[in-house]
Amino acid sequence: MEESITPRRFAAEFPSDVPRHWLPGNEVISSLLNAYTILVPANEAFYIRTLNTCLPRVADEELRRRCQAFIRQEAQHGVAHKRYWGNLDMQGYAFRGLERAIDHGIFRAMDRVAPLWLRASLVSCVEHINAYLGYEFLSQSILAEADPRLRSLMEWHFAEEIEHRAVAFDLLQAISPGYVVRLLGAATTASLFYLLMTGVTVWLLAQDRVLWRRSTLRQAVYHLGVGHRMARRTLRHLFNYLRPDFHPTHLAGADALAIRVLAEQEDERPAVVVPMSSRT
Ligand SMILES: [Fe+2]
Ligand SMILES: [Fe+2]
Repeated sequence: MEESITPRRFAAEFPSDVPRHWLPGNEVISSLLNAYTILVPANEAFYIRTLNTCLPRVADEELRRRCQAFIRQEAQHGVAHKRYWGNLDMQGYAFRGLERAIDHGIFRAMDRVAPLWLRASLVSCVEHINAYLGYEFLSQSILAEADPRLRSLMEWHFAEEIEHRAVAFDLLQAISPGYVVRLLGAATTASLFYLLMTGVTVWLLAQDRVLWRRSTLRQAVYHLGVGHRMARRTLRHLFNYLRPDFHPTHLAGADALAIRVLAEQEDERPAVVVPMSSRT
């Protein structure tokens, strides 16, 4: 299938009555994706800085155009998730100090100390993670019962992650295609991503005083094991990334999912997402 990357603006509002646990009866997934919302803006700003630094080394005009479309999509993701921070403030969560510490202590520090080939490899791997998370959440309809505003935010973001999933990998192949580079980026990214996501999720659950409840453990076991099987699926997706012949487009069925979600959101009235320019 031919790749198409359309930057879109997330237009829906987040009124103050969005419940703090917006996937009803599931504090674990609500907190997990709130952690994603907190981490996304700084993380994606890191991708954008990395791609902008790589661009002068990219001779292929088509790849440059795809990188620019990728940057526009990621910038909009950061803007939309950051808009929900106001709701997290109103709900009483303390997270801004931690978010700043992560941004400065990890992402901005990486700009200074990590060589460009490693930064590009980190972005390539985390983009694979974003794409398979999106694929799993969409294909399993995990957010079917969620608050419609938060469901739209997450599903729009997941669908666009699927849409642009090959860009960072193709960029890495263009500037630093060695297998060891991919391996080092994957080891660093997978550990850092899951450490940060788990840490911030636990921090939010602790603030809600539900961390040690039996229902929390039950929800985590359902998500990781018997229900959504995310532990096994995550390992399989990460293992796929290490295959020498891996390419992000191999994620079968993902494009159809993303196209359906985005078409429905573009058709909704009032509009949930608004395309910003013609398709690339
Ligand atoms: Fe994104
Ligand atoms: Fe992305």
